[in-house]
Amino acid sequence: MANDDALKQGFWSMGQLDRQGAESLLRRARHFASGPRRLDLLDGVEIAALFFETSTRTRVSFEVAATRLGAAVINFDSKSSSLAKGESLQDTVETIASFGVDGMVVRSSAAGAPELISRWTGLKVVNAGDGAHQHPSQALLDLFTLSERLGSLDALSGLKVGIVGDIAHSRVARSLMDGLDLFGAETTLVAPATLMPPRGFAPYVRATSDFDGCLGDLDVVYLLRLQQERIGQGLIPSFGEYVARYSLTRERHRRLRPEVVIMHPGPVYPGMEVDSAVIAAESSLVRSQTRNGVYVRMAILEKVFGAGVME
Ligand code: NCD
Repeated sequence: MANDDALKQGFWSMGQLDRQGAESLLRRARHFASGPRRLDLLDGVEIAALFFETSTRTRVSFEVAATRLGAAVINFDSKSSSLAKGESLQDTVETIASFGVDGMVVRSSAAGAPELISRWTGLKVVNAGDGAHQHPSQALLDLFTLSERLGSLDALSGLKVGIVGDIAHSRVARSLMDGLDLFGAETTLVAPATLMPPRGFAPYVRATSDFDGCLGDLDVVYLLRLQQERIGQGLIPSFGEYVARYSLTRERHRRLRPEVVIMHPGPVYPGMEVDSAVIAAESSLVRSQTRNGVYVRMAILEKVFGAGVME
């Protein structure tokens, strides 16, 4: 793949990156983590932030990242917009594009929306999460956080990562397993059969419904938010049943080897997918994940909207 051109129209999916492309973004993020807060690399660039779904971490960290690079962010409130009057997504994004912005950061419940919006408007679009499809900036910040903890990206090779929870509806799981595969890590998906995608995933991932059975093999336990709406849909019998089999309780945490790290994309629902004491433990990287989101998103925005050459 011609990697320098890979993100020319935007960043929609981890599938656009090969190992070299991901490495270059992560190196740049490391540079931003230790560099000055204020830069003018995107001076004069205007980016519209379109969040059609709720978000705290992702939205604010994209905004902080853009601001630190000198770009202006135009926020769009979908609830008070003409979308609420029935205007179509295409009309809305074309209206915003007509103001002459340079691009958009988009979160939508519709899988594929960022790529489609880019096609409709001709603008560069960065995906901040689209339905159950992809959340590539999350995958990169997770890889960044893991390599920070382990000392290098090479240390990801052979790492055994268990992604636990609602895999079927998770854009986080989909993008992360792509990212882990680029660096030779091994993914095991852990979920009850009803929360596993019916036809499975890529051939390089394993799947099991037995969390207890694989606890001892894992180097990383990556927990997903259990979306409460799933219970109403009959996909899990009850909260109690889910906690009994899939929550990282204190008792399960004690059975992990001491060097095992815990991750979660947030927002955490304490007592459901993970005990609050486990989230606060030294082995938890959850705070680092949130903090590193800014550096990784700076690297993404620079790559997509910047004119400069990146090493
Ligand atoms: C995730 C998302 O929205 O996809 N959160 C995030 O971006 N930090 C995960 C979730 O909401 O479950």
